[in-house]
Amino acid sequence: MILVTGGAGYIGSHVCKKLYEKGYEFIVLDNLSKGCKEFVRWSDLIIGDVGDENLLDKIFSKYKIEAVIHFAAFIGVEESVKDPRKYYENNFCKTLTLLKKMVEHRIKYFIFSSSVAVYGNPRYIPVDEETVQRVLTPC
Ligand SMILES: NC(=O)c1ccc[n+]([C@@H]2O[C@H](COP(=O)([O-])OP(=O)(O)OC[C@H]3O[C@@H](n4cnc5c(N)ncnc54)[C@H](O)[C@@H]3O)[C@@H](O)[C@H]2O)c1
Repeated sequence: MILVTGGAGYIGSHVCKKLYEKGYEFIVLDNLSKGCKEFVRWSDLIIGDVGDENLLDKIFSKYKIEAVIHFAAFIGVEESVKDPRKYYENNFCKTLTLLKKMVEHRIKYFIFSSSVAVYGNPRYIPVDEETVQRVLTPC
């Protein structure tokens, strides 16, 4: 069983569709701060926050989760510059909480949806594994 965080959002819901087509078993955890519950069409939806330690304990105890695919994040570039703390707390601190709970529950596999934005304005395109990361915004 896979846990898809942020599966009610844009990228997460498309990944869920693919997981379903490929026959994987999964559930979605999303607080619906941005996403849409109607986008969760291929699995159960747990409405809650990825930084909620008690909820993560319950999910990891109830379901036999083997892997987490992590899409739960805020993505507003402009807003992240105006309010970096909001992004630091949601995107960074809550990801650490998720990882801590995964370690506690011995869940080994974690797929993180990063962003091409980590490369800033790259010196060459297409970027490759050697490209230096030059983050321009807190997002
Ligand atoms: N949109 C793109 O083109 C793109 C490209 C590459 C990578 N990404 C990355 O993929 C991830 C998802 O992007 P998206 O475009 O699908 O965004 P989105 O806003 O459509 O989806 C994010 C989902 O996460 C949920 N969420 C946010 N914080 C949460 C929390 N604390 N707990 C539970 N749920 C929470 C929201 O409700 C939303 O449904 C981001 O990390 C983004 O940087 C996006």
